[in-house]
Amino acid sequence: MTEPPYTVTALPTMRPPGCPFDPPEELAQLREQHPLSRMVFPDGHVGWLVTSHALVRAVVADPRFSSRHELMHSPFPGAISAERPPPAAPGMFIGVDPPEHTRYRKLLTGKFTVRRMRRLTARVEEITAEHLDAMERQGPPVDLVQAYAQPVPALMICELLGVPYADREFFQRHALALNNFDAVPEEQYAAYVALQEYLHALVLAKRADPTDDLLGDLAREELTDEELTNIGVLLLGAGLDTTANMLALGTFALLSHPGQLAALRADPGLADQAVEELLRYLSITHTGVRAALEDVELNGHVIRAGETVALSAQAANRDPERFADPDTLDLRRQTTGHLSFGHGVHQCLGQQLARVEMRVALPALVTRFPTLRLAISSAEVPLRTNSDIYGVHRLPVAWDKE
Ligand code: HEM
Repeated sequence: MTEPPYTVTALPTMRPPGCPFDPPEELAQLREQHPLSRMVFPDGHVGWLVTSHALVRAVVADPRFSSRHELMHSPFPGAISAERPPPAAPGMFIGVDPPEHTRYRKLLTGKFTVRRMRRLTARVEEITAEHLDAMERQGPPVDLVQAYAQPVPALMICELLGVPYADREFFQRHALALNNFDAVPEEQYAAYVALQEYLHALVLAKRADPTDDLLGDLAREELTDEELTNIGVLLLGAGLDTTANMLALGTFALLSHPGQLAALRADPGLADQAVEELLRYLSITHTGVRAALEDVELNGHVIRAGETVALSAQAANRDPERFADPDTLDLRRQTTGHLSFGHGVHQCLGQQLARVEMRVALPALVTRFPTLRLAISSAEVPLRTNSDIYGVHRLPVAWDKE
């Protein structure tokens, strides 16, 4: 064993002033000096914080670290689980381990393959074009979050699952409350229950009258109503908020890096690699968690059974040991191996859908509006800091009318 581990008193959350795209500076110092450090969680639990790419990747690939919700202490100040959370509800497979997890993943993996998602490209193109037309008709200034970043992924996930888009105001509001740590825990819980009740009614309707969509397909599998409902809650929640934040924050990042924006505009063929680089650079799902099922020796320290490990994806994605010049946004680099979709058995199920959406929506936006710019100063853009998904609340943009 090496020297006793260094201890941090809380998860670093303060980004450097004026740098909305950079992780808190303390994370870089930790990664360099103490990539595995002890950390005091908001409920007093003394767990761990991992900040290097190699160690984050090692933990999520190691079956001795669990995703079971009930074992977790939340690292986020004000999160839903200031007390220990209950076990994941049946079907909420992000919060369970193999073999239970494997059963659900097997049912779903084939429905989210690269090939299947690529087939949706034409539909994403139609949806983005319709929303860009509407923005043009409305004229500047426009809040890009409301007009584009939220509706495009929302429409796609609704069509895929077979959820009526007309109900979007209802479920978007609740999905947002679920990930908002400024909301009191009761509000977060109420949002979860509301989404569950909504999906439950939909599941019963699909059982009675099966439809040609993902929930309709799953209604034919051996799943209980409760399992099917919670799979629906998970997919809808995960599909709405994540890609929406990538589109809005990604646009903000491009507008703040005019050279990179010009490169994408000049060559929309850069889209695939640009999206990977933006995912790495922005790390919107900035911090993951796991709990040790047994004592594990890692990097010269022993993580005891039952201890929670916070995994800083944003520190890992800026690790100079893994990415050259990591703090530079460079759309031309061939980014691979970022951890923004996680890694291991829980790696993002919807990543190919998210990629298709971003690869179409970002170039379409910047080529349709060659003079796109922020309509407020970048310091005024309201950042979504108190959430496990980073992003912006609003992004007012303007452009020159022809
Ligand atoms: C840019 C967009 C997205 C990002 C950054 C993202 C990020 C992530 C990450 C980091 C994980 C791993 C969580 C863990 O290890 O505990 C994950 C899991 C998951 N994501 Fe995504 N996601 C995105 C879009 C989507 C979409 C569009 C869907 C819709 C279907 C989706 C569905 C899921 C599901 C179901 C899981 C759980 C997988 C499992 O536990 O096996 N995600 N996502």
